[in-house]
Amino acid sequence: MLSPDLEDAMNTQIAAELYSSHLYLAMSAYCESEGLPGFAHWFKLQSDEERAHALKFIRHVVDRGGSVTLTGMDAPQTDFGSPQEAFEAALAHEMNVTMMIDGLYGMAQQHGDYASQVFLQWFVTEQVEEERTAGEIVQTLKAVGGEPASLLLLDRELGARQAEG
Ligand SMILES: [Fe+2]
Ligand SMILES: [Fe+2]
Repeated sequence: MLSPDLEDAMNTQIAAELYSSHLYLAMSAYCESEGLPGFAHWFKLQSDEERAHALKFIRHVVDRGGSVTLTGMDAPQTDFGSPQEAFEAALAHEMNVTMMIDGLYGMAQQHGDYASQVFLQWFVTEQVEEERTAGEIVQTLKAVGGEPASLLLLDRELGARQAEG
């Protein structure tokens, strides 16, 4: 059985993962309207991935005899300023998600909930990847500095991203 506070925190995490999906979908639409289909494709796949994260948490909560409570969510912004600012916002967001995952892991440890610790291990590793990937793209965009030819090259590169698994 999930402890009530871990159940609550996992429901909060489900809301956060669904918000992430919503945020990346907004970033995808923004990049599409900026004439950057490759960036849009990358964010669309990221949005799908975040939805899959929410589904993993839903599975775990249900499997452990907990109840899933979905909530409404805040609207993400429409205009992200520039592709670089969008990726900077994505990186800041992922850093926040990492803190939430770490908090869940600590809570699972406190309760001696081994099943949740094993479950959360995947997310601990995933967050390292998320921060590294977003960070690398921010660095590349800083180097590009809005130079159109390089931006289009990067757009082609991001457009080649494949869906996971
Ligand atoms: Fe996530
Ligand atoms: Fe990922």
